[in-house]
Amino acid sequence: MFLDKLDWRFATKHFDSAKKVSEEDMHKILESIHMAPSSFGLQPYHIYVVSDAAKKSELRAAGFNQPQFEDASHILVFCANSNVKGRVNQMIETMGGVSEEFAAMLHGFSEGLNGENAKGWAARQAYIALGFALAACAELGIDSCPMEGFSNGDFDTILGLDSNLSSMAVLAVGYRKDGPAHPKFRFSNEDLFTEL
Ligand SMILES: Cc1cc2nc3c(=O)[nH]c(=O)nc-3n(C[C@H](O)[C@H](O)[C@H](O)COP(=O)(O)O)c2cc1C
Repeated sequence: MFLDKLDWRFATKHFDSAKKVSEEDMHKILESIHMAPSSFGLQPYHIYVVSDAAKKSELRAAGFNQPQFEDASHILVFCANSNVKGRVNQMIETMGGVSEEFAAMLHGFSEGLNGENAKGWAARQAYIALGFALAACAELGIDSCPMEGFSNGDFDTILGLDSNLSSMAVLAVGYRKDGPAHPKFRFSNEDLFTEL
């Protein structure tokens, strides 16, 4: 179970490039993203699942040469969708209509979210989905590395993103070649929590 895996998992730096995550396990990891919660259920994100070797080496070049981008089995690129109005319309259409109250609430919400606010909001939703995928990997005994160390603009170009989408974060997924270089560091519970 996930809680037992917290010590086992670590942000893997060196993946074994010969080991691939099975389609069945990839399906489970993607399902954790599919089912992740999001504000109003709008899921304002899109995830690119990259396993093509040539594409992965392009990502590595745009990712400060971090080896995970090339050696991991799959690279999940979480992209925020800042077109909130478009997403609201798409949701209402896909659901086959919603109550007037819910539609009014969704439209009101999207009216207030524009530009950088919309992008920031969508990014926060995308990070929750990334957290779910990271947890799913740990539970399945699959290694992963969350990553922000890349040029977002270059990733957007490599992936051919339209202007509503922006790459935000990556989860590299695969199997470790070696263990962590350093013992796990965490601040104390006193530092992190205040009970009132
Ligand atoms: C949002 C985010 C971005 C990160 N970016 C990188 C990265 O670009 N490269 C890397 O090697 N590790 C990256 N990490 C991994 C962290 O350094 C690591 O999670 C942290 O030091 C705690 O260690 P642990 O995950 O092994 O427990 C990132 C982690 C998070 C959550």
